[in-house]
Amino acid sequence: FDFCGSLVLGSPGGSAGLIPIMAQQEELQIGVAGQAVILNCRGIPQNTAVTWKYSKALIFSKGKATMTDRSEINLTSKHLKVLDLRLSDAGIYTCEYGTHTVSISLHVFKLTISLDGHFLQNEVPKLTLMQNSTHPLPNLNITLFNNNNKMVRPKLLQNETPQKYTLMLKQLEATDSGTWMCHIRSDSPLINQNISFDVKVLGFQNPDLERKYATADSTVILSWYLNFQQIKWKEGFTGQMNWKQQESATAHELLDFNVTARGEQHETKKINRFRFEIPESKPESTIQVELSKVHFNHSGQYQCQLAYNGRHTQSKIELVVMKVSADPVGPLSRGAEMTLICQVSSPLPSNAHLLWKHMNGTPIDIKKSKQHEVKVEVKVSTAGLWSCHLIEDNDSRISLNYIVEEAPVWLSYVVIGASVGGSILVFGLASLCIISGIGWQRRRQRAKRMARARQYLLENKTCQCQQ
Ligand SMILES: *[C@@H]1O[C@H](CO)[C@@H](O)[C@H](O)[C@H]1NC(C)=O
Ligand SMILES: *[C@@H]1O[C@H](CO)[C@@H](O)[C@H](O)[C@H]1NC(C)=O
Ligand SMILES: *[C@@H]1O[C@H](CO)[C@@H](O)[C@H](O)[C@H]1NC(C)=O
Ligand SMILES: *[C@@H]1O[C@H](CO)[C@@H](O)[C@H](O)[C@H]1NC(C)=O
Ligand SMILES: *[C@@H]1O[C@H](CO)[C@@H](O)[C@H](O)[C@H]1NC(C)=O
Repeated sequence: FDFCGSLVLGSPGGSAGLIPIMAQQEELQIGVAGQAVILNCRGIPQNTAVTWKYSKALIFSKGKATMTDRSEINLTSKHLKVLDLRLSDAGIYTCEYGTHTVSISLHVFKLTISLDGHFLQNEVPKLTLMQNSTHPLPNLNITLFNNNNKMVRPKLLQNETPQKYTLMLKQLEATDSGTWMCHIRSDSPLINQNISFDVKVLGFQNPDLERKYATADSTVILSWYLNFQQIKWKEGFTGQMNWKQQESATAHELLDFNVTARGEQHETKKINRFRFEIPESKPESTIQVELSKVHFNHSGQYQCQLAYNGRHTQSKIELVVMKVSADPVGPLSRGAEMTLICQVSSPLPSNAHLLWKHMNGTPIDIKKSKQHEVKVEVKVSTAGLWSCHLIEDNDSRISLNYIVEEAPVWLSYVVIGASVGGSILVFGLASLCIISGIGWQRRRQRAKRMARARQYLLENKTCQCQQ
C-alpha cells in the first residue's frame, strides 16, 4: 500500500456511483513545463487519508498515470507535487477523501527559447509558447519584459493555433543578457502568469564599428572587451583578429584565441611580417594589440571575430592615422613659401574634418578641409608654430605640430653663391661664415636652388655657423 491510502473506500476504480454527488468546483491551476507544480487538496481535515487521481486513474498505483514517478505527496499537507512538468500532464486532477472530491484542472504552458538561450550578438531569438488543457484553449495575450524589466514588443508569427505561439524578438546586443519575463494573460479562463527565461548574449562591449584616431609614430592599443565573464557563459568558444587595409583588400590574420568552458583564455600570434605586440598586462577578458610607432600603412580595419557552434559575430575598429609634412622640407628662407600638408589615411565621417592653425598668428590663421577630403594644405611664408587638428563634433580628437623655421641668413648667401658657380662656392664657404654679419643686399631666390644648396651643405658639413 502506498501511504495515501487509496483503499480507504475499498473502491480502487473510484467509480462515480459510490461517491455522493456534491457540488464540486473545479479549480484552475497553472503549471509550467520543466518546473514543479503543487496541487492543493483544499479544505482537507488533518490526518485524513487522500487519494490523488489523474483523469480518473490513480496516480500512485504502478503503471497507471505517466507522472507517477515524478510525483510526491506531502505527508502532512497532502499536497500533490508534480516535478519536471510536461505538456501532457495537463488535465483534471482529483483529490478524494471520505466522500469529498476536490478537482483541479491543470493548465500547462511550455516556453522554449531557440538555441537554448545561448546567442551571439545580433542574433534573433525565437520564443515558442505552447499550452495544453482539457478545456478549450484560450487566446493568449503575451507580453515580454527584458532583463531591465522594460516591455518589449515581439513579432508574433501568424497562422498559429491557440496551442502554439511563435514570437520573434529583435537582434540581441551583449547588454541584453539576463533574465527575461514572459507575461501571459487571458480573460477566460482568467490567467495571469509569468514565466522567466534566461538569455545569454556572447559578444563585445565595444560598438559594432569603432573609429580610432592616431598620430603617426605614436603607440596605439586596440582593445576588444569580451563579456563572457559578466554573463557567466559556461561554454568554450574561439576567435580571431584580422587586419585589412581597405574594405576590398585581403584580410591578414594577426592572432587567434580560444576561451575554454572554464574561462581560460589563450592567444596565439599568427603573423610575423606585421609588427605588433600583445600587451603583457592587459585587463582580463580582453583582446588587445599594441602598435608602436604607428605608420600610415598600419591604418585600416581591425576586426575581432568570435565563433561559437559554427556561428560568428564580430566587432571592427577602424584605425585612422594622421601625419603632417611640408613641401619643400626644411627651413623657410625669407620671401619663400612652403606648403604644409596634413593628411589622414582614410576619409573621415561627415562630422569630422582636418584643420590647420597658425598658433602665433594674429588673428589665428585657420584652414579647414572640405568634407570627405583626406588632406588639407596651407601655404606658409612666415616662420612659426602650426598645428593640425582632427576635429570631430567640434572637439579636437588628435593634433600634430609643425614648426616652420626661418632659414638662417647665411643660407641666403650660400644660395647666391650657388648661382655664381659651384667652384667659386666651395672656395667662398669659409669666408661666408666670417662675413655673415655684414649686411648684404637681400635677394629673392627660387626655392629649388635653395634646396640644392642646402643639400650641398648638409652633405659637406663645411659650415657649422649659427645665425
Ligand atoms: C495535451 O494533454 C493531453 C492529455 O494528457 C495529451 O494527450 C496531449 O498529448 C497533450 N498535448 C501535447 C501537445 O502535449
Ligand atoms: C495585451 O496586454 C497588453 C499589456 O497588458 C495590453 O496593452 C493590450 O491591450 C492587450 N491586448 C489584448 C488584445 O488584450
Ligand atoms: C509579471 O512580471 C511583470 C514584469 O516583471 C510584473 O510587472 C508583473 O507584476 C508580474 N505579474 C505576476 C502575476 O507576477
Ligand atoms: C587554445 O589555444 C591554445 C594555445 O594556442 C592551444 O594550445 C589549445 O589547444 C587551444 N584549445 C582549443 C580548445 O582550441
Ligand atoms: C609600411 O611601410 C613601411 C615603410 O614603407 C614598410 O617597411 C612596412 O613593411 C609597411 N607595413 C605594412 C604593414 O605594409
